Amino acid sequence: MTATSLAFRRPPGPSQPVPLGIDAETLDTLLALRAEYGDTVSMVRPNGRLAYFINEPADVRRILVKRHSRYIKGPGFERVKMLLGNGLIVSDGDVWRRSRTMIQPAFSRQKVHQLLRVMVQCADKLATRWAAAIAAGQMINITEETSEFALDLILISIFGDDYDATIMAGGDNPFAFLSRDSTRDLGVVLKVRKLREMLLAIIESRRSRGGDETFDFLAMYMAATDKDGSHFNDKDLLDELMTLIVAGFETSANTLNWVWYLVAGHPEVEARLLDEAASSMPGVDAVTHENATAMTYTQQVLEEALRLYPPVWLFTRRSRDVDEVTDYDVPPGTDIYLSPYILHRTETLWPDPDRFDPDRFALVDGKPKKDLPYFPFSLGPRRCLGEYFSFLEMKVHIGLLLPRFRMALVDDADPELELGINLRAARDIMLRPSLRD
Ligand code: HEM
Repeated sequence: MTATSLAFRRPPGPSQPVPLGIDAETLDTLLALRAEYGDTVSMVRPNGRLAYFINEPADVRRILVKRHSRYIKGPGFERVKMLLGNGLIVSDGDVWRRSRTMIQPAFSRQKVHQLLRVMVQCADKLATRWAAAIAAGQMINITEETSEFALDLILISIFGDDYDATIMAGGDNPFAFLSRDSTRDLGVVLKVRKLREMLLAIIESRRSRGGDETFDFLAMYMAATDKDGSHFNDKDLLDELMTLIVAGFETSANTLNWVWYLVAGHPEVEARLLDEAASSMPGVDAVTHENATAMTYTQQVLEEALRLYPPVWLFTRRSRDVDEVTDYDVPPGTDIYLSPYILHRTETLWPDPDRFDPDRFALVDGKPKKDLPYFPFSLGPRRCLGEYFSFLEMKVHIGLLLPRFRMALVDDADPELELGINLRAARDIMLRPSLRD
């Protein structure tokens, strides 16, 4: 042994190789390892690579925030690469930094506020359909409905009028297949190629029209420049558009799905949401960002739903440099597994962790609690860009639809989880709707 390896402080862990993926078996594995070895576990993957599972809030924060530049994206991201090319979620280093700097202004609050009308329009579409379902005595497949809401919204936010004119020209939404776990779909490469051709046609037609007055993400992405004044080339632009669609729709859709399910089972929470909607968002004309900000209880409900069901439930990094966490060393090339799902349900951090209790996020002296062991949107410089957009869309959705529609559970059993790249309900959730008086 060399002096360096003698000094290497390695976390406890099993001696046998441990297979790790982004799936249900991996959740079981990580929970079992944590029960046996504690909140920082080391193991060797079957490919011989050293891997750590880290469930210490301070160390999670350190890796994602302070020491983020010592890490790149880790295993699991290769599966989404076929969808997203080298877009923001998968890229690293200078490529990531350039794109993030070019794209970030499009997500300023002021820009996102300009999309409030689209949020209302998409909620309205559901309201019309739900009223028809009630008249026909039908149930609501809330999983499909929230998925359609979020997909429509992100596509209109990106493509504006080109959504109806080009994307929906064939009748069916060609992006709808993305709501299934498309990374397991062998036909996905072909489908993605077709989508990219369609998007390229939209880009070219916009270029040929010259800079029109459109306000949408595509216009902002096409106008974005780096510090040398150059724009995204077509490939990069397509990668970033696909990234925005994939990152921006399933996550919010899944969260809304869980919110409807949780609220249907918690009348006391529902009553408080209704009170708040009545005072802060009494109808379409009251949909302003100031009123959405005032919906602090709705915010708590959304945060608690994201605690219990974080859509990005497990993600990874790989160390490029040597680093250390509280008690251990991290050699270069170590795969790091971080799980919002496990951390958010750790009993020592969140008492009675499986209980739905939005008051965990109650304001203190009018302000949100700080530094909670909580990271559904990740943390640090690679934190989600769409966080504000998604809270706004979810508040508009709940604020406009809950006061009109009461949803009752059809099935008392807790839905089982499907743990893929995103955490979702294994089966669609059905609810029985009725109109409120
Ligand atoms: C409830 C909703 C959402 C959740 C829970 C969520 C969660 C996350 C997480 C955990 C990451 C970081 C992944 C990692 O670093 O490995 C991320 C990144 C990202 N998200 Fe979200 N997201 C949500 C909604 C959205 C929306 C609506 C958009 C766009 C409109 C969006 C755009 C992005 C982008 C562009 C990134 C990449 C940021 C970067 O690497 O610089 N997300 N999101």
